[in-house]
Amino acid sequence: MEFKRNVVLGVSGGIAAYKALDVVSALRKKGINVDVIMTEHAAKFVTPLTFQSLSANSVIVDMFDEPKVWEIQHISLAKKADLILVVPATANIIGKVANGIADDMLSTTIMASKAPVLFAPAMNTVMYVNPIVQQNIERLKSIGYEFIEPASGILACGDEGKGKLPDPKLITEIALTKLYTNKDLYGKRILVTAGPTNAPIDPVRFICNHSSGKMGYSIAEVARDRGAEVVLVSGPTNLDIPYGVKVIRVNTNSEMLNAVLDNFDNSDIVIKCAAVADYKPESYSEIKIKKAGGILDLRLIQDTDILFELGRRKTDKQILVGFAAESNDLIENAKTKIVKKNLDYIVANDIMLKDTGFGSDYNKVSIISKDGEIVNLDKMSKRAVGEEIFNTIVKRR
Ligand code: CTP
Repeated sequence: MEFKRNVVLGVSGGIAAYKALDVVSALRKKGINVDVIMTEHAAKFVTPLTFQSLSANSVIVDMFDEPKVWEIQHISLAKKADLILVVPATANIIGKVANGIADDMLSTTIMASKAPVLFAPAMNTVMYVNPIVQQNIERLKSIGYEFIEPASGILACGDEGKGKLPDPKLITEIALTKLYTNKDLYGKRILVTAGPTNAPIDPVRFICNHSSGKMGYSIAEVARDRGAEVVLVSGPTNLDIPYGVKVIRVNTNSEMLNAVLDNFDNSDIVIKCAAVADYKPESYSEIKIKKAGGILDLRLIQDTDILFELGRRKTDKQILVGFAAESNDLIENAKTKIVKKNLDYIVANDIMLKDTGFGSDYNKVSIISKDGEIVNLDKMSKRAVGEEIFNTIVKRR
């Protein structure tokens, strides 16, 4: 079950127009259809062909172009849009919309649409703080248009200040949260753990595992999009911090334990996706261990089973979900973990399958509940697995 939505991306004429290309790619990777409308000035910065190639849709610049199929384009796009996103939004387009001027395809489409509109302004800092621009922004905000604050920094003109287009990844994530209309987790506080933990040996070396964190991050993003307040306790990963999620970064088992315990009592649902190190070196060497020839004996001792500790503390009101990464006897091993760790659900995945699990964007899992009901899912994106986990929890409550 992937996420199908339509975004109309308006590009107005600023130097940051090229950054809108990254927004198109990122939205398309999430399965979202993107129709691009450019102003004539935008088309002087970046060619429509580039947007056409990335969006795989024809790009509209001139309102009076011959349409490919007979339809009144500003009306058809205005109706089709689940969200109109303007990146970058110049003082000009903001001013036009705020004052009811519809004299090109972008301003006309915005005017003719009932879809939410999200502007990402980018312009020279003096222009941005100009009271006329600020009044236009305030006016639009007061009637429900939304804005992404520009970032501060050195601008294309050499001036320094507010007016930079924020990171396209951030713009994409904010757009995704607006597109998502199912808010069935609203009011819930959800704690998710993700990624590996390290077990340090000396100042240089540590023991780790293959977990990329993608599964846990996807779960956190789904929970956020469905309206929950999310805390993500993350081991070391290369992933970007998801917008709108409180992230606590940790390294070791004991750091993860402390962060999880600090947030456990306040959480309604806890999903323990992290691949926590079960063993750590018996002693940590403060100085780098030198090679001494032959065999290096490294004694490992068992570390805390965090999920087991949570199962002991869990109240009837809390839902505790574990993961089980297994190479054999998947369902049987997973069921044993439900009982041993006092879980409500376990998400079991077979780590021997190709193209799923560690590092992949896909996973193939079974969701098992404590009363033995099993939902066997096909291979799907990790985001879709996150959706299915919450669907199962919501349905069974
Ligand atoms: N887990 C944990 N703390 C540990 C080990 C695991 O909290 N020290 C959690 C994981 O986050 C996961 C679940 O327990 O949700 C199962 O992890 P898994 O590695 O599959 O199982 P283990 O309990 O470690 O058992 P084994 O490695 O023997 O299969």
